[in-house]
Amino acid sequence: MMKQKIKTALQFTKNVLVTGALTETSRKVEIEICRYLPKGENQIIVEYGMGHGNITREILNHISPSSKLYAFEVKKEFCEHVKKTIQDDRLIIIHDGAEKVKDHIKEEVHSVIASIPFSFFSKEKGLGIIQDSYDLLVKDSYYSQVLYTKSNFKKFQMVFEECEMKKLKNFPTEYIYHCRKGS
Ligand SMILES: C[S@@+](CC[C@H](N)C(=O)[O-])C[C@H]1O[C@@H](n2cnc3c(N)ncnc32)[C@H](O)[C@@H]1O
Repeated sequence: MMKQKIKTALQFTKNVLVTGALTETSRKVEIEICRYLPKGENQIIVEYGMGHGNITREILNHISPSSKLYAFEVKKEFCEHVKKTIQDDRLIIIHDGAEKVKDHIKEEVHSVIASIPFSFFSKEKGLGIIQDSYDLLVKDSYYSQVLYTKSNFKKFQMVFEECEMKKLKNFPTEYIYHCRKGS
């Protein structure tokens, strides 16, 4: 377990300009980011920034057997790692960026869970991802995003009707934005 965590940290550090982090997000994040996941049958969940699959695993532990998880990841090695380490028929790995979500997802989405590094994206790219996610989500559903900064919160408030920010007292401090599409 510890050996795997060190391997993941090395991979993240090596690719820091894409990952935006030196280590995986904390256990507190894995729990808090899944707060609004729907537990019903046939729910469609989308994850952006799967990495080595820590949040992916947590999502799969929460959702029903008939639900599906589409997980986007730009690094091919990370997709291959998760393919080897998580065997679950509900998981569909998409080796592409969150900005291409509409090219891949043609159905209504019930939740978006994201750990992509917004601070590394241009304003247009970031806002595009938020707007496309909003369009795909059903009413009363959530987009939850973890970041190391508060500074992207305004972008989410520009698109979503209700946004809440939760501060997790870790080092470094992690923020979770929970954004709800209105009814
Ligand atoms: C901070 S890491 C989070 C990884 C893991 N989910 C966690 O919680 O530790 C961000 C991840 O997003 C991926 N990523 C970066 N840009 C992306 C994009 N445009 N679309 C999808 N994934 C992206 C990175 O390769 C990296 O795996």
